[in-house]
Amino acid sequence: MRVFVTGATGFIGYHVVQDLVAAGHEVLGLARSKEKGQALIEVGAHVHLGALEDPESLRTGAVGADGVIHLAFIHDGAFANDFSKFTANCELDRRVIETLGDVLAGSDRPLVVTSGTGVANTVPDQPAVETNPVISSKMFPRAATEEAVESIAAGGVNVSVVRLPQVHDPVKQGLVSPLIGIARQKGVSAYVGDGQNRWPAVHVSDAARVYKLALEKGIAGAKYHAVAEEGVTLREIAEVVGRRLKIPAKSVSQEEANAHFGWVGMLVGRNVPASSALTQQQLNWQPTGPGLIADLEKLN
Ligand SMILES: NC(=O)c1ccc[n+]([C@@H]2O[C@H](COP(=O)([O-])OP(=O)(O)OC[C@H]3O[C@@H](n4cnc5c(N)ncnc54)[C@H](OP(=O)(O)O)[C@@H]3O)[C@@H](O)[C@H]2O)c1
Repeated sequence: MRVFVTGATGFIGYHVVQDLVAAGHEVLGLARSKEKGQALIEVGAHVHLGALEDPESLRTGAVGADGVIHLAFIHDGAFANDFSKFTANCELDRRVIETLGDVLAGSDRPLVVTSGTGVANTVPDQPAVETNPVISSKMFPRAATEEAVESIAAGGVNVSVVRLPQVHDPVKQGLVSPLIGIARQKGVSAYVGDGQNRWPAVHVSDAARVYKLALEKGIAGAKYHAVAEEGVTLREIAEVVGRRLKIPAKSVSQEEANAHFGWVGMLVGRNVPASSALTQQQLNWQPTGPGLIADLEKLN
């Protein structure tokens, strides 16, 4: 298959590109510069220069493809305590998905879009499941992604969604990475209350395989959860981070967390486990990579 991949130069996308090439697919990866594109050429992919803010570049990338995987996202606002910027980036994601949908409409060519498991934590304290209704973008801006998916699916696009939890290797661990940065800065590895709230996780190599399987045998309209661990407690995470950084792990109240973590503080105390039972069955996917705590044990 000739596959157009956005976010091909990113943490997860680069793994996806390598898996696709290894499986014999021809990959056209979106890159913002020739320098960035060089890494794609080195693993046997082709480069398509463009940007999320340039819809024509997305159209020309997708038009000759047999399938599209969308992973690009501007994270500047998400990790810079700038919620208005994060909201704008989520709304850009909505427009990007609509643009890709426009190109693929009227064909059977699959589009695989990236979302997060958090949007499906709609039954309090129960693991999010693939079939849950999702929250509104009015409550959490990132839900704009799946609103766009629903809209283009209604227009006949063969679109599926991969929902991600914290995606990790020994260097990057999703939203745990900014928590580590704050722990380094403040000399305390904090968790909220008794820290028994859980976040789901997956190793980056396992997440990449879900994208490849969703592209090759995904069902139109399906939501897949690339989740290996249903939930790891925030206390366990804070303790391993504290141990590795040689700083104390400490419980804080929700009010203290808001001041300590900035806007990530509103997420640190949330209990958002997620299941992948349906995904494992539908895609015949079994995660095999190391767990989140094992990767955090390698932190320096
Ligand atoms: N990592 C996680 O734990 C996690 C969890 C839930 C959801 N997700 C989602 O999964 C997707 C991939 O995440 P990731 O961890 O691989 O992120 P990442 O390492 O930050 O990669 C982001 C990708 O998007 C590209 N990009 C950024 N701004 C762009 C723009 N204006 N135009 C074109 N491309 C642009 C980046 O290109 P450059 O290389 O040029 O910067 C890079 O290829 C994102 O949608 C993310 O929100 C990730």
